[in-house]
Amino acid sequence: MTTTPALPGCTVVAHPLVRHKMALLRDRATPTKLFQELVSELATLLAYEATQQLALTPIEVSTPLETTPGEQLATPPILVPILRAGLGMVDGIRALIPDARVGHIGLYRDHDSLAPVEYYFKVPPGIATHDVFLLDPMLATGGSAVNAVTALKRSGATRLTFLCLVAAPEGVRRLHAAHPDVPIFTAALDRELNAHGYILPGLGDAGDRLFGTK
Ligand code: PRP
Ligand code: URA
Repeated sequence: MTTTPALPGCTVVAHPLVRHKMALLRDRATPTKLFQELVSELATLLAYEATQQLALTPIEVSTPLETTPGEQLATPPILVPILRAGLGMVDGIRALIPDARVGHIGLYRDHDSLAPVEYYFKVPPGIATHDVFLLDPMLATGGSAVNAVTALKRSGATRLTFLCLVAAPEGVRRLHAAHPDVPIFTAALDRELNAHGYILPGLGDAGDRLFGTK
């Protein structure tokens, strides 16, 4: 077992490969290209743990020698990255689940209030009948995640899971309080937020580090 229960509703994926890659991800000296690769690889590893409850349908498979019972995913999940930084997690999960369709939610935190501002929302049809994986590397105050889950539920989503790489206890508590039905999977549960809403020790601004905007 590579997961550890943390705060209620939150699972920390503590696999050695995750811990190794997280140390590289946090390092301020890690350049943009490697940072992108690590976010993608960590998303793959997290998705492996977070997809354990996906339903399967029995099928029959023809091997070169005979037919045998097999299984396939009943319905491929829908991935919804929160722009911008969530985009970095999509390809790593699609490498595991190529049939996964992708929606997008555009949110940014207001500099002063830290409240999320929504500027884009588009999800594929079937959101009500598919598992939905909401993606964002950072769960800080939790405002963005709560806003995104609320918007997805408003458009019909019922089976939601939140995947992040670094979570602050404040964000985990806020998301779990607002949406206790949404399991949270994270690669790390950090200590606290600073006065500007940044996670400590954290990794800095995930969007800026992914896209080289600073
Ligand atoms: C970051 C991050 C989350 C949000 C987390 O995005 O990718 O979406 O902050 O913070 P919260 O839990 O306090 O809401 P940011 O607002 O910086 O947007 P950007 O990367 O698109 O600039
Ligand atoms: N968003 C980030 O990108 N990093 C943080 O530490 C907090 C919010």
